Amino acid sequence: MTRPRPSVALYPGSFDPITYGHEDIARRALSVADRLIVAVAETSTHVKSSVFDVAERVELIREVFVGEDRIEVKSFEGLLVDFARKQGATLVVRGLRAVSDFEYELQMAQMNQELWPGVETIFLVPEARFSFLSSSLVREVAKLGGDVGSFVSPPVLERLAAKLRHG
Ligand code: PNS
Repeated sequence: MTRPRPSVALYPGSFDPITYGHEDIARRALSVADRLIVAVAETSTHVKSSVFDVAERVELIREVFVGEDRIEVKSFEGLLVDFARKQGATLVVRGLRAVSDFEYELQMAQMNQELWPGVETIFLVPEARFSFLSSSLVREVAKLGGDVGSFVSPPVLERLAAKLRHG
């Protein structure tokens, strides 16, 4: 008897930085796929100024998921669908926090579907307490000296503080 191939899902994003909301979505994704690749994009459709470079973000996400064997972290350049195809991932996971996310997410999902009909996008909903959370707000609050300790994991908090201290 042949076993079905393990399913691989891709969770793409900017993750600048990864928040508890992203972590929640990543762990939920493991209930629909055997393995998850958290994919940090070199090019985001909407992020303008970053705090961490892509290599730093990858490193931080690896620290956050250390010991979680079904989660891998990689960065990618170019189109998401090309990266997904190369990784053998036919499933793309995105988090949907509120109606305001919907239009952007729908556009991306349909564009990706046009570019590669072999890809399916699924949306997962985070725990309600993370619905307001975004990397951009975390960046802004941290830059202005606010406490973001309840929004990001300790390694992220530490690196964020060090980064902002040194400008
Ligand atoms: O966390 P973000 O910034 O909302 O994630 C957006 C991301 C990175 C998933 C999107 O910009 C993307 O897929 N970038 C890779 C380049 C690409 O394929 N662009 C076309 C998207 S339809």
